[in-house]
Amino acid sequence: MEIYKTEFGSFHNQTIWQYTLTNDNGLKLKVMNYGATLTSIETPDKQEKTARIVIGSGRFNDYLEEDAYFGATIGRVAGRITAGKFSIDGTNYQLPLNDGKNTNHGGPDSFERLLWDSHPFRIPDQVGVRFDLFSPDGSNGFPGNLNVSVSYSLNQKNEWRLHYEATTDKPTLFNPTNHVYFNLSGDLDQKVDHHLLTLNSHRFGEINKDGTPTGRLIDVADTPFDFTQSAVVKRGFESDHPQNKLVNGYDHPFFLDKHGDGPDAVLKEPVSGRQVSMTTTNNAVVVYSGNGLSEKIVMDGKPTKPHLGITLEAQMMPDAIHHEGFGNIILRPGVKYEADTIYQFGLI
Ligand code: BGC
Repeated sequence: MEIYKTEFGSFHNQTIWQYTLTNDNGLKLKVMNYGATLTSIETPDKQEKTARIVIGSGRFNDYLEEDAYFGATIGRVAGRITAGKFSIDGTNYQLPLNDGKNTNHGGPDSFERLLWDSHPFRIPDQVGVRFDLFSPDGSNGFPGNLNVSVSYSLNQKNEWRLHYEATTDKPTLFNPTNHVYFNLSGDLDQKVDHHLLTLNSHRFGEINKDGTPTGRLIDVADTPFDFTQSAVVKRGFESDHPQNKLVNGYDHPFFLDKHGDGPDAVLKEPVSGRQVSMTTTNNAVVVYSGNGLSEKIVMDGKPTKPHLGITLEAQMMPDAIHHEGFGNIILRPGVKYEADTIYQFGLI
């Protein structure tokens, strides 16, 4: 296994470092300190041809121009907070709005636009980087001085492991995720239409027109949201279901069943034979089928397009602070936040 660092760009006169992590099975992961962002994953297909299987770029400036959060760490709170308002212990907070009348993905210029401290590490059978960030009290309207760290590692079992930790000195909200877009074909001329998805979830979160959750969990049975058995992603692009039509595909949280030993989500691409399995300590996965990608976003010299990638954002249910049963995202002083997500790569 190997890890090495190269200069990737510069931001506010500071060096952007990219770390390349490799294992002995031909997997390669690249991460950078800007946004604690994953910039590339390369894996072999069933013919042993290696290709990049996520949307990313080898040009740092592409990340300054895009607004799709490719591979970035999202925080303090992933997904939308209705009206950017919440209250903890009777104190009301108003966040800046960056998504119509709501706050999305932690507000404007959030974790994904900040420079993190990076600490590479090697332990037996594992290489990785821990990224640390200090988010001061009042950042984007959130209370509490927050110390966050996210560790990315690669091991010989072909697992990309994400481990999050955080502490605060005032009660606050915390619900981070990673926003990687997979395209397992390894060919960014192809959309993800023919990818097959399996989710260990019998209920998904209904959303309003503006993308905020209504608070209602809908049974997936007999809907294009039923991925309890492997199903093709394209059916959500062609469906008449009002929830698919609203967003031109999927942009929905799935409430994870959390029973059985299997992974929470599996994504497969039949032609290349690649597959990724996701397991998380969180209670939800947000599946976003890249509906908003367009030729205005250019990565590595190539314009993107709708449905070019699909995310499996492991997190607690979005807008959990406003909906009973969505889980607790309040972090209190004296408590250490910890969460883990694992993406494991293999062949079908
Ligand atoms: C959101 C989408 C949004 C995308 C890029 C996703 O996680 O749910 O609505 O367009 O991120 O910002």
